[in-house]
Amino acid sequence: MDTKIRFAWLLVVIAAIFFAIGRTTAQSHTTLNKETVANLSTAMHGEAFAFAKYMLYAQHARKSGNKDVADLFEKAAHTERFQHFAEEAQLAGLVGSDEDNLRDAIKGESYEVQTMYFEFAHQAVTAGDRAVADRFEEVRQDEMVHRDAFKAALAKLQAKPAVSQ
Ligand SMILES: [Fe+2]
Ligand SMILES: [Fe+2]
Repeated sequence: MDTKIRFAWLLVVIAAIFFAIGRTTAQSHTTLNKETVANLSTAMHGEAFAFAKYMLYAQHARKSGNKDVADLFEKAAHTERFQHFAEEAQLAGLVGSDEDNLRDAIKGESYEVQTMYFEFAHQAVTAGDRAVADRFEEVRQDEMVHRDAFKAALAKLQAKPAVSQ
């Protein structure tokens, strides 16, 4: 009898440990400190910008005949994008379901269309920076196309019948 009770307790302890580990893993990005989440966002913006910038620098270096400099920029850009950004995005829980991702993209593009590029173009016109104003307005039109394509894709996905498992 004693052996049976001890065995039962052992099972309870093992089950509790597995439950605790499962909870920690599943909730790792939902329980992050608010400031940590903000820092992850800042870091991801920096890494994404560094990737884009280094690719342009690499392009310039290649055109200038400096192959080694171009390769160096491309190698660093690859790390910024496929290691630093990707690892931080994983920790931040950036990628959700396809529907969640489309909703997030629509939100971002809508902000660019209705607020950001709209106000930036207006500011540039007022300041007399005509070329920048024109570019902002042209980009705004492209973002409209993105927003609408994402909206259409979301509607199509939502209309799709659920696949039975
Ligand atoms: Fe980096
Ligand atoms: Fe866009």
